[in-house]
Amino acid sequence: MDTAFLDAAELAGLKANWGAISDAHKELISTLVQNGQTGLFMDWDEPGTNDTAKSAFLESLAKIDGNYPGGLAGYIKNARRLLAESKEGKNPFEGLTPEQPEKVDLTEFTADFEKYEAIGAKQFDKVGVVLVAGGLGERLGYNGIKLDIAVEVLESTPYIKHYADNLLAMQARSESKRPVPFIIMVSQDTGPKTLETLEANNYFGLKKEQVHILKQELVPAIADNEGTLALEEKYRLILKPHGHGDIHMLLYTSGLAEKLQGEGIEHLMFIQDTNGPSFNTLPAAIGVSVENNYDFNSLAINRIPGEAVGGLTKLVGNGKEMTLNVEYNQLEPLLKATISPEGDVPNEQGYSMFPGNCNTLVIRLASYVRILNESQGIIAEFVNPKYTDETKTAFKKPTRLETMMQDLPKLFGESEKVGVTVFSRMWSFSPNKNNIADAAAKVAAGGPADASATAENDFYAAGRARLQVAGMEVQEAGQEMILGVPFTLGPKVILRPSFAMTLAEGKEKISGGSLSGESTLIIDGENIALENVRLSGKSALIVKACAGAKVTVKGAFENDGFELVKLTEAERSAESRVPEYLKIRGYKFENCGAAVFEFDQPGEYTVEA
Ligand code: UTP
Repeated sequence: MDTAFLDAAELAGLKANWGAISDAHKELISTLVQNGQTGLFMDWDEPGTNDTAKSAFLESLAKIDGNYPGGLAGYIKNARRLLAESKEGKNPFEGLTPEQPEKVDLTEFTADFEKYEAIGAKQFDKVGVVLVAGGLGERLGYNGIKLDIAVEVLESTPYIKHYADNLLAMQARSESKRPVPFIIMVSQDTGPKTLETLEANNYFGLKKEQVHILKQELVPAIADNEGTLALEEKYRLILKPHGHGDIHMLLYTSGLAEKLQGEGIEHLMFIQDTNGPSFNTLPAAIGVSVENNYDFNSLAINRIPGEAVGGLTKLVGNGKEMTLNVEYNQLEPLLKATISPEGDVPNEQGYSMFPGNCNTLVIRLASYVRILNESQGIIAEFVNPKYTDETKTAFKKPTRLETMMQDLPKLFGESEKVGVTVFSRMWSFSPNKNNIADAAAKVAAGGPADASATAENDFYAAGRARLQVAGMEVQEAGQEMILGVPFTLGPKVILRPSFAMTLAEGKEKISGGSLSGESTLIIDGENIALENVRLSGKSALIVKACAGAKVTVKGAFENDGFELVKLTEAERSAESRVPEYLKIRGYKFENCGAAVFEFDQPGEYTVEA
């Protein structure tokens, strides 16, 4: 190693410490200095002063160097290139014209919907589920991990349990009964609590070996256009999140994508931490991917023009075409500059031509592994510095490279097929990401709340929809505003995945029956049949059956069911001992006499009112 650089006056301190530094760290320092990072090592203290901080600093540099494909030198090189492009003001859409993407419309529960579900349901043992759960959830402001929040508060099921239940239901339905691989990406903020929840709950019935936890690391902040790494203080880098696109890098560096492919997995479905309806769409979305040979299938909703959600857009030009998520703030100027001087305009149904991205993705594993190998899992990084002025020479504060998981198709060639599957909103996209105050402001401005209460609302709405498709009469109650966020009073319906994962299953198990506007129905178990079940007033019926228990439920049930109780201001205050998952929605339910039937022994049973 050439150590001539140590003779620089500002590196005299480093030189004095050189003998105590390991060979691997010396190598890394030399590489960093060659890459313009002398600033990281200036004015080091004499040996004996701050030695622990010095070695911790070198360890942290080595760790980041090992985590990022191409090491820190690669990160700096990518940063310089992206910062130069940003300074130039390069238009990423130069020469590209937006068109409507190829889409399959599954917003209605038609015969087509069921056809795709039937195809997808045959693939349950060839699917892996990838959950990105490294985000801070600053907008929600929950004091814990988002996966621990209850998606509904009749039984208070946390998101993570709801997802695990769906995996168990998929396994139970597949011929091979093979455990569905469950990959969870965590960060230093969410990792320990995620593991704690899994351990404390015995992995919610999953096998420990089927759960793969991948941890995303922070990346160094960058101080200037030359890619100089920024220091918080001497011996400490400023580190920042790199974004959910890290999942691609981790599936590459861990070798997991390739391993799952070798084990016969054909598709991965990527979901987010608090989008409860994701699994409603899974069977049909997998069916669409299989039937249409999609390498990448973006799940979407009909989007109102201007809505703050990315638009899925086919971009044509420069001799190729690609379907990508275009952020809503970029879509409007792109449309104005190309096909539509008025920007994004509604069609006859009032929707944009460009469906809204739910960021639930189905990716064909064979194509994915090939692309990961070619790119080392570094997917379309970008940089978004806030400059001090139009000369774009200095930043207001250090920036960093970022990556988003939906940008994978940027690396696709002509042979990869990208499509969009559009579902109804309550069926596919109801994220829980805004605190009540922000959610109420969004509702007041005419937008979706995307809050705990609306997520729960849609959870029940999807249950109601399954019953209606199966021919039950379902009266819908009115809405009540709770702290400025709308909540439909009922009927509250939870059909657990053990009972039905597809519409066809619901049809098979339900015949006739009716639910009044404020009733409640909860069904959990594979072999439960509902025959002309009728609930009136606020009546509630809960039936749960273990595997092997065959239960037929009939008749009209009458009781006082559940009462919605709004929390008082005192109960919502920080000092109150009411669980935080209730505080973030502003209400709870009180059981006033629901009829409950539980069967934990195999056998044949009839429940008759
Ligand atoms: P969001 O865009 O909702 O971001 O992430 P967030 O960080 O969770 O929430 P805010 O913006 O601070 O309010 C979408 C999904 O991507 C995951 C989140 O956990 C969520 O499932 N994510 C986000 C990661 O896994 N890693 C990241 O670095 C960022």
